[in-house]
Amino acid sequence: MSGGLAPHEILVARDADEAAAFVAELVGRGVASAVAQRGVARVALSGGKTPLGAYRRLAQYELPWAATWLAWVDERAVPAEHPRSNQSAIREALGAAPSESRVLRMDADAADLEVAAQAYDRALRRMFGVTEAAVFDVVTLGIGADGHTASLFPGLGSTAVDDRLVVAVPEQPSLGLEARLSLTAPVLRAARLVLVLALGAEKRRAVTAARLPGPNEELPARLLQGAQGRVVWVLDEASAP
Ligand code: 6PG
Repeated sequence: MSGGLAPHEILVARDADEAAAFVAELVGRGVASAVAQRGVARVALSGGKTPLGAYRRLAQYELPWAATWLAWVDERAVPAEHPRSNQSAIREALGAAPSESRVLRMDADAADLEVAAQAYDRALRRMFGVTEAAVFDVVTLGIGADGHTASLFPGLGSTAVDDRLVVAVPEQPSLGLEARLSLTAPVLRAARLVLVLALGAEKRRAVTAARLPGPNEELPARLLQGAQGRVVWVLDEASAP
């Protein structure tokens, strides 16, 4: 939103179903056009509850899944079968597409999260090709009422990390939050298309503040003000500024 960057787009849906349809359609088009233009699509998906309906819709799309790589924006430090595992919830919503061999598993339940972050960083660099920039074709994000996005939370310093693709985020016992792995701000900003899905009145303050000037560390979703690609906020009337 500052000098030279395209303004963010805002889509206000009638309800959660329409928002899910918007997101599925935009992800689908992003994947199809990446494969048509470059022969491959690289997608990073967020977890949380809000986007699962969109992923269930996406599962019904005829997409070039064989040419699509799927990575995760963030994961919580829980075993794969845990109800709070983002990867498991997203895989279940997406059904059989794409095949396991095209999915980059994030080992957020590893004993050493720093090592797991480095391993995911290497896996991403291999997926992009070591001589290419880490530019996802499509990234989906959510936003918390505190303004966090991905697993970049206020006050932990992780929004400023700019020397790697993946960061280990410490647990926050006072908030009841487990440790996480998360893509870093530069990766989120570099994506060709970023979709931010937010529904409900409790998100309105954060959605509004994310588009106003201020420190990223206070409201991490502000990092998208420096996005280099297209940013589309998919909202409902309750969350829209
Ligand atoms: C996570 C996330 C996180 C999420 C927001 C919104 O793992 O928690 O990726 O950034 O998108 O917390 O979550 P809801 O959609 O559940 O409100």
